[in-house]
Amino acid sequence: MEKELTKIQEEALSAINSANSLANLNDVKVKYLGKKGLLTAMLRNMGKVEPQDRPRIGQLVNTARRQIEFVLEEKYNLLKQNELNSRLNSEHIDVTLPGRRHTLGHLHPLTLTLQKITNIFKSMGYSIAEGPQIETDYYNFEALNLPPDHPARDMQDSFYITKDILMRTQTSPVQARTMQAHNPDEPIRIIAPGRVYRRDDYDATHSPMFTQVEGLCIDKDISFADLKGTLIFAMQELFGKDVKLRFRPSFFPFTEPSAEVDISCVMCHGKGCRVCKETGWLEILGAGMVHPKVLEMSGYDPEKSSGFAFGMGVERIAMLTYGINDLRLFFENDSRFLSQF
Ligand code: FA5
Ligand code: MG
Repeated sequence: MEKELTKIQEEALSAINSANSLANLNDVKVKYLGKKGLLTAMLRNMGKVEPQDRPRIGQLVNTARRQIEFVLEEKYNLLKQNELNSRLNSEHIDVTLPGRRHTLGHLHPLTLTLQKITNIFKSMGYSIAEGPQIETDYYNFEALNLPPDHPARDMQDSFYITKDILMRTQTSPVQARTMQAHNPDEPIRIIAPGRVYRRDDYDATHSPMFTQVEGLCIDKDISFADLKGTLIFAMQELFGKDVKLRFRPSFFPFTEPSAEVDISCVMCHGKGCRVCKETGWLEILGAGMVHPKVLEMSGYDPEKSSGFAFGMGVERIAMLTYGINDLRLFFENDSRFLSQF
């Protein structure tokens, strides 16, 4: 019995000594001191020891147990410390490394262009009006003199939500909304920037979602000359005094006469390229004198009041401002593109 005890004790001590990890050490602990451990078994077998030897043997077993526990504890502390040291080494932080910088965001080129446009018109006494992007058929078409079966609706095929509600195809509905909210005896000078939607194919100069700035000026004795002067001034502010504008006769049901206005292509300086579709010009806006029927429908007397309106494409203007040859770049959110502004 005593011999066996000494053997177990020596084995245990050498196993503890050679344990090289906490898991390893725990196995040793279980093997000798656990419920089914070798030393525990010895205590359980005390019944087989001669009664007169029991106190002595019992004491020996307990002493051995305490010694093993003590050595175990020391080894445990040592392994724990080693583990901590190696973590401190492998996970150590170099506080002298330079920090990570946050990149500051900035305004999108379309926002910058919109700000330029609105500032120019504000300087001429215009205020800013807004309308909903989800619009009724009435404001988007009917109040603009496009009754349900008018063929000009085809030019602005849209995304319908119900039969009578659609994504607005132009900012022109803000014209009717503004007139109806106004006292017809007071003049109007507003611009209305915002998103519009059409079933257009996505190409270098078209997007199914794009931005327009509507303009509306109503007063006594407003003429086409006022329209021309206002637009020429605005474009010269945007592109410089040398910019060339071209007014082409056109048709819009809500203006009469109507014009489309082109700007000389800054990409090819009029020689012809992909952006201007080889014409040397890029169409940036539609405009005209507010149609008498439109004035009437919104409560104005065409005998007393007259006015002009225009609607410009902001992406096209931004392309010409920054020399960008593809409108799709505005919507792809590639930071290599956006960081240039
Ligand atoms: C209109 O939308 C009229 N509401 C403009 C108007 C307002 C006329 C007031 C008279 C009085 P148009 O469909 O031509 O017109 O569009 C106006 C401008 O929006 C175009 O000149 C062009 O610059 C831009 N545009 C049109 N379609 C797209 C598109 N799919 N992607 C990008 N820009 C577009
Ligand atoms: Mg057009």
